Amino acid sequence: MCPTKTIEKIAILTSGGDAPGMNSCIRAVVRTALTSNMKVVGVEGGYEGLIHGNFLPMGLRDVGGIMQRGGTILQTARSKEFREPRGQREAIRQMNNNDIDALVVIGGDGSLNGAKKLADQGVSVVGIPASIDNDIYGTDMCIGVDTALNTIVDAIDKLRDTASSHSRAFLIETMGRESGYLAIHAGIIAGAEMVLVPEFPFTVDEIAKTVDAAYLRGKTHAIIVVAEGANPSVTQLAEIIESRDLGFKVRVTILGHIQRGGKPSAFDRMLASRLGYHAVQFLSEDKTGVMVGLQDNKMTAIPLEDVISKKREINQDYFRMARDLAQ
Ligand code: ADP
Ligand code: F6P
Repeated sequence: MCPTKTIEKIAILTSGGDAPGMNSCIRAVVRTALTSNMKVVGVEGGYEGLIHGNFLPMGLRDVGGIMQRGGTILQTARSKEFREPRGQREAIRQMNNNDIDALVVIGGDGSLNGAKKLADQGVSVVGIPASIDNDIYGTDMCIGVDTALNTIVDAIDKLRDTASSHSRAFLIETMGRESGYLAIHAGIIAGAEMVLVPEFPFTVDEIAKTVDAAYLRGKTHAIIVVAEGANPSVTQLAEIIESRDLGFKVRVTILGHIQRGGKPSAFDRMLASRLGYHAVQFLSEDKTGVMVGLQDNKMTAIPLEDVISKKREINQDYFRMARDLAQ
């Protein structure tokens, strides 16, 4: 058996859509690695920075005072170049030239796909799930989801005030191109009349029926949470509902990138700290080519192969609950 190589220096990067809690995670990775006698460099600008060798040595003090800040101090990027084998080769070359033994990737499903490509080419890599979409296989929660949900609920509470005052129906779009997780969970905890997501098809007649019934029951508002990836889109839906003259006037609010910002919640700080701490522990134990996931409140190593090839299914019970509680 080959003796395992001691890890002396690691690199850490954040990639893809930013998520509140990424900074708490960077802090945990840096401090755990330094206390395990590893050197750490931060990569500025995700995979793009890896390709171009944008490395910053990180010390204990460099990650002080960042726990409570949204975004990522390392910057993030969507790198076209890295998607190609040529970009990945450049990234590996930069790692070799800078004596980097292992890489920690904090990001969403795309970023973890990228991490798998590196693992397949012999790089020691551990992934950490961070995406407000919560659409990554192998983890109950991703960094950023809880904070985004709190932002959404806060916005819906405010929108309900004005909706009730004017007897209006509000169509509120949440993020998630392919995932209805945020919409369903926000719908339950903000008391929406209806939730529309890409995973469960719906007809315009069903929506009209629900809005009409809410009006007839004497409701002073109708809140419909629409996931970004739903079809028809939120603006098309607004026109259709308005044209049916159901009693409520219609307004649209697209929450947009506000959902990705802000200081991370207590839950996200704790999750990010745990994931970062365990990522370094896994590297020390030579567990690589894996993602650290939260499963039944335990930190678990999930092969990146599973993470990228399996689909995280939306929980149908929550969808039903959103519908049944909206009476
Ligand atoms: P997220 O990680 O939030 O899902 P993206 O899907 O944009 O965000 O992915 C982030 C980056 O990861 C991409 O810009 C690209 O550089 C890299 N990446 C995504 N998918 C792949 C892939 N299949 N192969 C290699 N790199 C990828
Ligand atoms: O994956 C996170 C996410 O915020 C999605 O919910 C959204 O569809 C997408 O990123 C938006 O991407 P961009 O920041 O490039 O506009």
